[in-house]
Amino acid sequence: MIGSNIASSTSAIDSLIKKERSLQYWENVDASDDGMLGGVPTVAGFSNTSKIDLQGSRSFLAKLGIGMTNDRRTVAHTLEGGAGIGRVTDGLLRGLALHIDVVEPVIKFNDKLRGISGVRHIFNVGLEEWVPLEGVRYDLIWIQWCVGYLTDEQLLDFLKRCGQALNPEHGVIVLKENISMSGSDLFDATDSGLIREDNKFRQLFTQAGLRITKTDLQKGLPRVSSRKLLPVRMYALKSQLM
Ligand SMILES: C[S@@+](CC[C@H](N)C(=O)[O-])C[C@H]1O[C@@H](n2cnc3c(N)ncnc32)[C@H](O)[C@@H]1O
Repeated sequence: MIGSNIASSTSAIDSLIKKERSLQYWENVDASDDGMLGGVPTVAGFSNTSKIDLQGSRSFLAKLGIGMTNDRRTVAHTLEGGAGIGRVTDGLLRGLALHIDVVEPVIKFNDKLRGISGVRHIFNVGLEEWVPLEGVRYDLIWIQWCVGYLTDEQLLDFLKRCGQALNPEHGVIVLKENISMSGSDLFDATDSGLIREDNKFRQLFTQAGLRITKTDLQKGLPRVSSRKLLPVRMYALKSQLM
């Protein structure tokens, strides 16, 4: 998240993504919140990053009418894409959803997910391979800090499948990702992942038949002297047909 091994280019930079390298990176990461956040919480001043992130996500969902308080609704069927050890599943989704399906390719993280109440189906595959179960329609699909491991084409196809798997009445996808501000997408060789520009995301959403119903920047992320995190943006997406 505080990138150090970063390259930028204007054309087809997503071809640098190598699945085996990103999986190798994650296989070697601790199955802990700290590991999920790339070690950021161990940097002085950044220890609250996960808490701030989850609070920002809760507030964003509340604006979509989803939550546990007042007249907000809870949801029955949710999916978390790239769930890791379940930091978001446990810290956000478990409180407002009945069933949570998760997609996560790293087996040692799946073992942690199995221990979280409410987790129903674990898809031990990458998002690019995930296919929804027959007949399941999600009220909420949460995708955070993981689409950088997919090429543009893989992400487009994945978003199309998400759109088809949404509850046609009120289903919503939330995608929460770091945003490149350097005028192009950035490739981080550390985990073989891409940090996309806001414009790139918007193009892909439109091509996937999705529309943005709300978008916010995550507020309150730590900033300590010269170190700060990349901006993190949340997009709520619905099918253009809804
Ligand atoms: C930065 S962690 C984020 C985990 C979780 N979303 C969170 O916010 O705590 C990135 C996760 O993406 C997973 N990942 C790597 N390649 C993936 C892929 N092709 N599809 C889905 N997830 C992937 C990693 O195993 C890791 O669990």
